[in-house]
Amino acid sequence: DMRLHIWQCCSWRQLGLLEADRLKATPCRSKRPRNDAGNKVTVVLGAQWGDEGKGKVVDLLATEADIVCRCQGGNNAGHTVVVDGKEYDFHLLPSGIINPKSISLIGNGVVIHLPGLFEEGDKNDKKGLKGWEKRLIVSDRAHLVFDFHQVVDGLQETERQAQEGKNIGTTKKGIGPAYSSKASRTGLRVCDLLGDFKDFSTRFKNLVQQYQSMYPSLTVDVEDQLKKLKEFAERLRPMVRDGVYYMYEALHGPPKKILVEGANAALLDIDFGTYPFVTSSNCTVGGACTGLGIPPMNIGDVFGVAKAYTTRVGIGAFPTEQLNAIGELLQTRGHEVGVTTGRKRRCGWLDLVIVRYAHMINGFTAIALTKLDILDVLDEIKVGVAYKLNGKRIPHFPANMDVLQKVEVEYETFPGWKTDTSAARKWNDLPVKAQNYIRFIENHIGVPIKWVGVGKSRECMIQMF
Ligand code: GDP
Ligand code: IMO
Ligand code: MG
Repeated sequence: DMRLHIWQCCSWRQLGLLEADRLKATPCRSKRPRNDAGNKVTVVLGAQWGDEGKGKVVDLLATEADIVCRCQGGNNAGHTVVVDGKEYDFHLLPSGIINPKSISLIGNGVVIHLPGLFEEGDKNDKKGLKGWEKRLIVSDRAHLVFDFHQVVDGLQETERQAQEGKNIGTTKKGIGPAYSSKASRTGLRVCDLLGDFKDFSTRFKNLVQQYQSMYPSLTVDVEDQLKKLKEFAERLRPMVRDGVYYMYEALHGPPKKILVEGANAALLDIDFGTYPFVTSSNCTVGGACTGLGIPPMNIGDVFGVAKAYTTRVGIGAFPTEQLNAIGELLQTRGHEVGVTTGRKRRCGWLDLVIVRYAHMINGFTAIALTKLDILDVLDEIKVGVAYKLNGKRIPHFPANMDVLQKVEVEYETFPGWKTDTSAARKWNDLPVKAQNYIRFIENHIGVPIKWVGVGKSRECMIQMF
């Protein structure tokens, strides 16, 4: 045991300065290093196919947050925040950037398109969001999305259309190709861009060549790209940190409120979503650990965000979709238009099978139910509660898309409350029929609903406990 103890102390020491303070506090001979869990992070995740209102929920929590982090995805995300009647849309920037007192962090799991990042920042600067560059920290381990990744995203969509008669309906932000480069170990990271630029240039050229051999029609003005990248590098440099160490210090320093803003959503997760009609990252809770470099024991609350109905942008199975007047009403009343691509979102009834599935993976501690107000005018409201295959209920969510296309949805029907809920600010302000709808959802998922959204702005969020 003593030998093990000495070995442990030595390996702590090998970690270098990182553990110096800890060793001082726990002398080698007397005690083992204390396993101090440190601060917990609060994670906000989409429980459907995206656009549930994550931005709004993060904004609500961010008013008290010290650090707001993005851990996965890229500028395929579009998060809307409405403050004092002003609407902001964030893509790569964490929605917490709006809070002048908090730090925003883009973690290693995010893929960053630098022109997109600065364009977004400058656009928001013009809207009055000053000093964002001073409040932003970018992990040196984050991978870069290049312009040609975005071109390739488009070429791949064309190819899919030609080969299979359908595409994925990606945002064409280069997300899939950039994560492909990362997985094939030819990707380039922020630390590479800020390191030796000659090395970076060589690897950039090799990467371009690799893609050109796959897509002969791809043309890239390499010199022009490198020139622009060099300029971006200098603008980025002051924001770049070792993300792992930054988070380690944040977790183990004085008490801090740390938020993680999920992008995309459970059903778009590359492992658990409706593959292949998904995005290319883990949008479920594991992405918070791998995308920031934090231990699972530092995960605190995991809030799932779900709309009171369901929407989806892009292609893929959608069992509760309403290709009728109901779907159109949800689309128009809910202003269901993609924030990133401007595409109309497909709309349908709330599907509790998928929200329960998202809960199985994420272990939500509470749910934010948004856009209840959109249902205000309906005579009756349906909720999908189970899937049937060949007349038999299935207990799981099907992995195979052909199977998912075939499921028959079992619905529960509720009478509409036909009352404007947009002015409701507490539980008792809601009509009883709306309360019953909410209670049913809560019981069916088995997770408490902590917030109910009845409008776009900050104050339109009823807090239940
Ligand atoms: P995110 O991607 O999950 O952050 O969500 P988006 O911003 O893409 O889409 C959500 C949309 O719904 C935005 O336009 C929000 O302003 C809006 N929204 C969020 N919560 C509510 C709500 O409770 N009621 C209404 N009417 N709109 C909401
Ligand atoms: P937020 O964070 C809705 C969808 C795209 C497409 C698929 C793959 O705002 O909820 P990608 O460009 O990621 O390769 O596209 O995923 N998608 C989203 N849909 N909201 C999002 O983000 C999305 N991010 C990706 O429409 O079907
Ligand atoms: Mg969105």
